[in-house]
Amino acid sequence: MKLGIASDHAGFEYKQKLISYLTKKGHEVVDYGTYSTDSCDYPDYAHALANAVESGEVENGIALCGTGNGVALTLNKHQGIRAGLAWGTEIAKLVKQHNNANVLVMPARFISYRMAVELVKVWMTTEFEGGRHQRRLDKVPVK
Ligand code: RB5
Repeated sequence: MKLGIASDHAGFEYKQKLISYLTKKGHEVVDYGTYSTDSCDYPDYAHALANAVESGEVENGIALCGTGNGVALTLNKHQGIRAGLAWGTEIAKLVKQHNNANVLVMPARFISYRMAVELVKVWMTTEFEGGRHQRRLDKVPVK
């Protein structure tokens, strides 16, 4: 899978480790920043990732910040983005099954790196259920 990834300084360490992990697993990963632990503004990187997913430059995305909320609210300003926050494996499964999240968002300051890997694995291997969930998703965009 061709994935985009982005974080602010709070998610930087996990982002770097996830890039190595996913690349070793054979995925192509495009890094939309940030590129150091220096304090930065999460919208700068979340918008870059959202644009890449919306344009089809990457198929799906992964985003991290301290709580996950900053990147999630930024990503979800984009009509083509369904960014879902997950901090446990059952939520990571449901965020694909029910919400068809095309960006997985994680709260780096509140989960272990081991958990982040588990969440990515679950989200990547779960299928969207469609049906009533598609009907609900069709009502999400602001016309
Ligand atoms: C950075 O300190 C923190 O505010 C940010 O990572 C994120 O949690 C914002 O929602």
